Amino acid sequence: MRRKIVAGNWKMNGSKDLAEKLVGYVRSEAGSLDNGVEVVIIPPAIYISDVVAQAAGDLAVGVQNVSGWQAGAYTGEVSSGMAVDQGCGYALVGHSERRQLFGETDEVVADKVARVLGDGLVAIVCVGETLEQREAGDAEAVVAAQIERGLAKVEVSQWERVVVAYEPVWAIGTGKTATSEDAQAMHASIRKVLEGIGAPSKDVSVLYGGSVKADNAAALFAEPDIDGGLIGGASLIAEDFVSICRAMP
Ligand code: G3P
Repeated sequence: MRRKIVAGNWKMNGSKDLAEKLVGYVRSEAGSLDNGVEVVIIPPAIYISDVVAQAAGDLAVGVQNVSGWQAGAYTGEVSSGMAVDQGCGYALVGHSERRQLFGETDEVVADKVARVLGDGLVAIVCVGETLEQREAGDAEAVVAAQIERGLAKVEVSQWERVVVAYEPVWAIGTGKTATSEDAQAMHASIRKVLEGIGAPSKDVSVLYGGSVKADNAAALFAEPDIDGGLIGGASLIAEDFVSICRAMP
């Protein structure tokens, strides 16, 4: 079922204090959102239990990354089963920072997606091209390949728990957002690719991420194939994040 989602990815930012104040504020405001948006907070793993406590069931919580292994001697890793145990409903997989800084390939992404879905979480699978790839005219092909390979292990019954987040790498943390027209064009193309791999493409939520702010969210969310946003920097400022949640039609 296609859902409207605004998810805040804190990346490696935050504190117990932020978990208390920001999540408390967002929760208090979420009650007055009348647009049916699902609000998800995705803090560093060490703060998940603090955020879950503050969210009190009114906001969803996600994990930024999980291990490809289920359990065992993998020092420093966190499994998707542990994220479920702590109260998470969502997991990010394949964020471009993980692909670029930690060498995650599409094959690793596919394994993690399988793990996350197998444990019952919603997988928010991130895709997106670099500036170089866009300038070479390869953006759609790059994103298509990431989807085809990264979602290769999704089983028919699991599509309802798959969300795609299109985050052009050149727009992340740069203040350069894709125009709503360019983002819409890519989202429409993503839906075609999903259809090509047997997904119920009209039912899969496709989020946009990359310098989404309170003043550009409404234009992006008004596009027919943009079902919400994956927010980085602006998710760390309580009022801005709530404004973005309110920008959803
Ligand atoms: O996952 C969210 C993201 O990468 C976008 O970050 O700071 O450009 O909103 P930002």
